[in-house]
Amino acid sequence: MAKTEDAADPHDESSRPVVDRSIRRPLGSTGLVANVLGLGAGPLGDARHDEHAMTRLIHEALDLGVELFDTAPSYGLSEDRLGRALAGRRERVIVSTKVGYGVPGEADWTGRCIERGIDLARERLRVDVIDVVHLHSCDSQTLRRADVRDALLSAREAGKVRHLGYSGDGEPLAEARRWSELSVVQTSFNLVDQHARDGADNRAWLGKRTLMNAAFAREAPLSPDVAEYRRRWCEADWPDEVRRDPARAALRFAAFGGPDVVLVGTARVENLRVAVAAIEEGPLPAELHVALVEIATRHAWPGLV
Ligand SMILES: NC(=O)c1ccc[n+]([C@@H]2O[C@H](COP(=O)([O-])OP(=O)(O)OC[C@H]3O[C@@H](n4cnc5c(N)ncnc54)[C@H](OP(=O)(O)O)[C@@H]3O)[C@@H](O)[C@H]2O)c1
Repeated sequence: MAKTEDAADPHDESSRPVVDRSIRRPLGSTGLVANVLGLGAGPLGDARHDEHAMTRLIHEALDLGVELFDTAPSYGLSEDRLGRALAGRRERVIVSTKVGYGVPGEADWTGRCIERGIDLARERLRVDVIDVVHLHSCDSQTLRRADVRDALLSAREAGKVRHLGYSGDGEPLAEARRWSELSVVQTSFNLVDQHARDGADNRAWLGKRTLMNAAFAREAPLSPDVAEYRRRWCEADWPDEVRRDPARAALRFAAFGGPDVVLVGTARVENLRVAVAAIEEGPLPAELHVALVEIATRHAWPGLV
């Protein structure tokens, strides 16, 4: 991917001083650097997808310049597939995953579950050290639990994890931002869900659901959260440039609107290429970007996990 031209800052309402327009960026103050386009490896964990096709997708992502891969134990075969496909190709690769649930014999959201969950994730991902481990959208009370915090800190101390993070939104995100040991946050950020800009700080910020789960192109039946995104998409009066090509506009908006990295969830190489092409176009024109911030402000849409 090429470096974009510099442009006027379209987003001076952000609590972050500057939105970085380069294609490779520092991730907050972690010391990590990554391409702005990250692969959300949720869809590729679906067991119905062909194994070889998913390996090709991951390799194609690397060839296109993707450096950050985000996964979770709840994404089916995603961690296993990433572990296999990235073996031998880990130079410059950053893998982030999530913990807190799904460990046989352990109660969810306990220190023991987190401790063992990290070890299981290391096995599936085939690494000694995981770059980023997020608590996966737990509530505020869990975030404050001493055993949960101690398990994360011990794993980092033991060299099993480089950076600790929280993935989620709303009040728990605010709680996570109060814990200084978390150096990464992963939040929803898209045209119809811009709440996470408020309170953004110098932590690494990974933007999820940057395509609004493609709500602009989907029909019922939809899960409640995607149905809500669809309702918001239909409710607002979008400029023609956005209506004409919502995926491209959404990605350009998100990539140059706050997060250090935008995760695109796809199991299809052609959609990954669309994302690369969109980001290579650089930021949206400043007036359009500001108009899109204003639409969300006017509707006061709350954040969705
Ligand atoms: N709580 C959490 O921690 C949490 C929650 C949600 C997401 N995430 C992370 O964020 C990643 C991305 O979020 P997401 O997958 O939920 O949402 P998303 O990236 O906003 O949307 C994914 C959907 O968009 C479609 N799509 C991709 N490119 C497209 C294009 N150019 N045109 C039209 N449709 C397109 C994909 O379908 P195809 O597969 O057909 O391309 C898929 O259905 C996840 O994979 C995960 O890593 C984390």
